[in-house]
Amino acid sequence: MTGAERPLLRMRGIVKQFPGVRALDGVDLDVDAGEVHCLLGQNGAGKSTLIKVLGGAHRPDAGDIEWDGEPATLHDPHAADAAGIATIHQELDLVPWLSVAENVYLGHEHARFGFTRTGRAEAAARELLARLGHPEIPVRREVGRLPAAGQQIVGVARALSRNARLIVMDEPSAVLDPEEVDNLFRVVRELKSGGVAVVYISHRLEEIRRIGDRVTVLKDGRTVARNLPARTTPTAEVIRLMTGRAVEYALPDREPAPLGNTVLEVNDLRRDGEFTDVSFGVCEGEIVGLAGLVGSGRSEILETIYGARRADGGTVRVNGVRLRPGSVPAAVRAGLGLCPEERKSQGLLLAESVTRNVSLPVLKRFTTAAGYIGRDADTGAVAEVTGRLDVRPADPSRPVRTLSGGNQQKVVLARWLLTGCTVLLLDEPTRGVDVGARGEIYALVRRLAASGVAVVLVSSDVPEVLGLADRVLVLREGRVVHRAPAADLDEARVLDLVMEGSGR
Ligand SMILES: Nc1ncnc2c1ncn2[C@@H]1O[C@H](COP(=O)(O)OP(=O)(O)OP(=O)(O)O)[C@@H](O)[C@H]1O
Ligand SMILES: [Mg+2]
Repeated sequence: MTGAERPLLRMRGIVKQFPGVRALDGVDLDVDAGEVHCLLGQNGAGKSTLIKVLGGAHRPDAGDIEWDGEPATLHDPHAADAAGIATIHQELDLVPWLSVAENVYLGHEHARFGFTRTGRAEAAARELLARLGHPEIPVRREVGRLPAAGQQIVGVARALSRNARLIVMDEPSAVLDPEEVDNLFRVVRELKSGGVAVVYISHRLEEIRRIGDRVTVLKDGRTVARNLPARTTPTAEVIRLMTGRAVEYALPDREPAPLGNTVLEVNDLRRDGEFTDVSFGVCEGEIVGLAGLVGSGRSEILETIYGARRADGGTVRVNGVRLRPGSVPAAVRAGLGLCPEERKSQGLLLAESVTRNVSLPVLKRFTTAAGYIGRDADTGAVAEVTGRLDVRPADPSRPVRTLSGGNQQKVVLARWLLTGCTVLLLDEPTRGVDVGARGEIYALVRRLAASGVAVVLVSSDVPEVLGLADRVLVLREGRVVHRAPAADLDEARVLDLVMEGSGR
């Protein structure tokens, strides 16, 4: 091989052993300068672990890394940074109480200039955000107060600020709108034409086709296919490589079921500055979808119904009884469950076991004395639900922190499936979940509805909303702009409705 043809990065036989789990069991990866290399694999396949090895966050137990033709040891994140490798992690490692600009330049030379140069860092951060299509993000705002999508953009800005030669993006699009994904892809193309390599991880296979050059597939910690052409390899083939089987990945048709009584009634619900005039009902057995961009008020509406935010006006009734506004305990007593969007901050106790996390809100059902969880009662039920969702590894005593991102999402969902609520509010239930488990979640949500639960579903994945919901409300800038049976809508129409007036 001549010098010009050698890959920028060459990883061979990478092994990483965690207590009880061999996360990587001989992984190979080649990345060329100026290419977008997609890394695919099911939840727990080892993608994040591999890129943590690449980013110097994990020491591999075996294997070789060549960087720019030379053997390299990436002892720690500084070594990776110095080599020109930047990583945008799946669980963003931004510091919530620092400003946007401070986060962009964290650990960076600019930061060492001290206070007098804060203005320079801010100006540079502003420029990067503008380049990413987000001039509106205030560089002095605390990052923790930005919505998830905003935080993601800050993560990308930080990687760009490093002038890296290789940028790793671990599921960046999971929290982004279609329009923001377009922006991100524009930036990725720009990076590419400047010779920068991008390693791109996503569970959305259509994105691989749009942005990817080559694909490497991981399964159970091993490379099962290397350097496939991203645009021409059939999706079915990619799925078979990832799962080892053919997966039904489209949503199966559903017989419209006869609907029962109205269980949830939302009337003129309003939170100033977030959403207004929101009214809808959900019947027993019905799935109502809320479609809209990030920032359209979708999550805020769910959280207000659940009492986590206090409404400025309007009412929420469950089985005809008005809920006390702003009271989560009242909502939970009335039978409401919320599966939140941000699992890390709202959903999970990361140091606790899968069992403990899944049984959190059901303590009452299983508690035999104050604070005591009747272990016999709950482990069986937990094992059943986590088994159905295929949470891996199938060891419920494992701390949730050690699960892969997609498996953490399944734990949050398992909890609510076990709670037995009458109204289930689902915010992005399949974010970060692989194609196999996604089908399992769809089937479970439908089964819940068939058993009489009223479901409200928020998702950025329009085909998912259309495929799962009976009725769809389209939101734009905090208002319901359209409502229709899902059967009367298609993807193009919904995208049109959600984006109208947003600059398109
Ligand atoms: N710190 C850790 N301690 C123990 N096990 C871990 C740790 N981090 C990851 N694992 C395990 O290593 C395996 C690979 O996890 P990894 O996060 O790399 O998966 P992934 O491919 O990124 O999945 P996802 O698509 O869900 O994000 C999983 O079985 C996971 O539970
Ligand atoms: Mg991951």
